[in-house]
Amino acid sequence: MVGFGMPTRLLAYNGARGWIAFFLTGPLFFLALGVVSPPWMLFVAFNIPYRLATCQGFSIGRDVFNPLFAPVDVVYAFLFTRNPLCPRGVAGNIGKWYACQLGLLANLIGLVVQCRRISAAKKEGGTGDLPQADPNVVVTTVSAKITTVRADFQETLDLPAMMTVVRHGDVVIFHNPVFCSKETYEELGKDAKRVIIHFPTAFHHMAADIAMAAFPKAELWGSPSAGDRHNPQLQVKDTRDGFDVEGFKVASLAGCAYDERWLLFEPEGVMLFGDLVPGVTEAMDIPAWWSDCGRGIAGCCEKSTMISYQRCFCLNHEEIIAELKKVLSWNMKVCYGCHPGHADQSNYDVYEDMATYWSWLLPAGDYSAKAAGVQLT
Ligand SMILES: [Fe+2]
Repeated sequence: MVGFGMPTRLLAYNGARGWIAFFLTGPLFFLALGVVSPPWMLFVAFNIPYRLATCQGFSIGRDVFNPLFAPVDVVYAFLFTRNPLCPRGVAGNIGKWYACQLGLLANLIGLVVQCRRISAAKKEGGTGDLPQADPNVVVTTVSAKITTVRADFQETLDLPAMMTVVRHGDVVIFHNPVFCSKETYEELGKDAKRVIIHFPTAFHHMAADIAMAAFPKAELWGSPSAGDRHNPQLQVKDTRDGFDVEGFKVASLAGCAYDERWLLFEPEGVMLFGDLVPGVTEAMDIPAWWSDCGRGIAGCCEKSTMISYQRCFCLNHEEIIAELKKVLSWNMKVCYGCHPGHADQSNYDVYEDMATYWSWLLPAGDYSAKAAGVQLT
């Protein structure tokens, strides 16, 4: 299944027992899809003519797949994540099915878009098989060591992507490669003795070819699932197995369907996440009333801001809770994920935002660096 976008490691997570549970929950996944489809299709049926009539054109991500998330949020909340009668193993297997559906769709559409990007690059005089960079790239210098690069991403989902570049001594790390130009990569990695491309999540690997063309000797670290999904497959070294760059701490969310790996850049308190980051779905190009309506119903009477399907992605709760407690005790001043989130807002508190986001899973308590310090003395 490697190469078709199916998260193979995820499906093999619990061996034969996991496969049996996965197939047994299939009918429930398709039942939920049946409940989700009428409101989704109704929205799409009105949205596409509206976009065309108001000269906004058509985009498969913005107009077809983005609107799926609100009804999924509501239906998954009431059927699975907030249903006291639903065992969490069932919710986790629904998450596996959803990841397979999303992974397969993303790869099929991604293959078509990649061909279009490569042919567009050739028309512009490019040589080889490098894809065209996105037209809207914003490079922001945050500090002498941190630069962010925002690029549009309009494939299966219409959601801007974000890369964070950390320059520390002779090392440059590209966290979450995006579709900026090869020249941008070369400029940002100039004079580095060691270049690392870090893949924080299974679903973000598409722009790796541009980064690797700029730095053919770059080391590939992060989530091995990202390497599995890439075509051709990449050998990505697992960050949790001895990431040897001074100044960094590593966290592993292998117990979730994204198979995420996170980094903390200690000198500046910069936390580098993947897709599991507060505010990630809010950056999606979608009418606010539609997503607010979905979240308002799905998230009524609770403070967590995490959307339901992402909760289904959390498979091994104990493993994730242990890792979250570790991360929350770190001294985090700012955070960046694979998409623009809350980090650029004033009076932003990474600990508070993360603790709220994960409050549906974390036992109540204070896991902050301050509390951890108090416990240590
Ligand atoms: Fe993403």
